[in-house]
Amino acid sequence: MRLLLLGDVVGEAGLVALERQLPSLRERLCADFVVVNGENASFGAGLFERDYRRILGAGADCVTLGNHWKAKPDILDWMEDADRLVRPRNLLGDPPGVGSLEFVPPLEGGRSLVVTNLLGTAFMREQVVDPWQSFLEAVDEFPDSIHIVDYHAESTSEKKLFAYQALGRASVVVGTHTHVKTDDAQVIRERTAFLTDLGLCGDESGVIGFDPERSLKKVREGDPSPFLPLIGAEAVLEGLLVELDDWTGVPLYLEDVKARCRIDG
Ligand SMILES: [Fe+2]
Repeated sequence: MRLLLLGDVVGEAGLVALERQLPSLRERLCADFVVVNGENASFGAGLFERDYRRILGAGADCVTLGNHWKAKPDILDWMEDADRLVRPRNLLGDPPGVGSLEFVPPLEGGRSLVVTNLLGTAFMREQVVDPWQSFLEAVDEFPDSIHIVDYHAESTSEKKLFAYQALGRASVVVGTHTHVKTDDAQVIRERTAFLTDLGLCGDESGVIGFDPERSLKKVREGDPSPFLPLIGAEAVLEGLLVELDDWTGVPLYLEDVKARCRIDG
């Protein structure tokens, strides 16, 4: 099966780019299953239900989140019923929603897919449960499935170290959160497909998808207003295509994905 994994959607530019480009991208890449990180989709932080549905409508099968998972607090009202949404698994307490979600095999006769979202610990503000222990619980919960991990974290080395730990347990470990696509896609020891960061779905002329002028005001003058997603004439969709053996889950093929499209007019 062929999985397409796309990086953080930042604001309207990312949403429009998904709507305009994902259907043809999915077809061109012959992707059987698409995972999109949506934690910055709604005005740069968090996710409204309307935008969750836009991402699915564009062709995603699963939407993952991250440290901004409840930046739009009304998510607490609808996420329990969102059957394709995965929030970080290793949050403290017992928040609504799920941190691992099982999907029926995209191809007939294959094993089910389980997508898990984890928050990293280095340089992150959130207090979380140990991501490794949390992942092991996911493997115990779904012992016969092929495991895909969106490891949402700042630290590059933390992401790769997690992938090494997960060898043989996770077929795919991809990082999100930095909005900068890395050039290190690889299959680690012929067992786990890995990429440090999937990158950005949004306006790449900004700073990680945001308006640099607003960001400068925040940094230099302490402007308390939120970061502002940039939307110009063109946007990018960045991510990774991974082909897996349907039965063993072993990665067979990787392809970096970077698609641009006009979003004005
Ligand atoms: Fe994030």
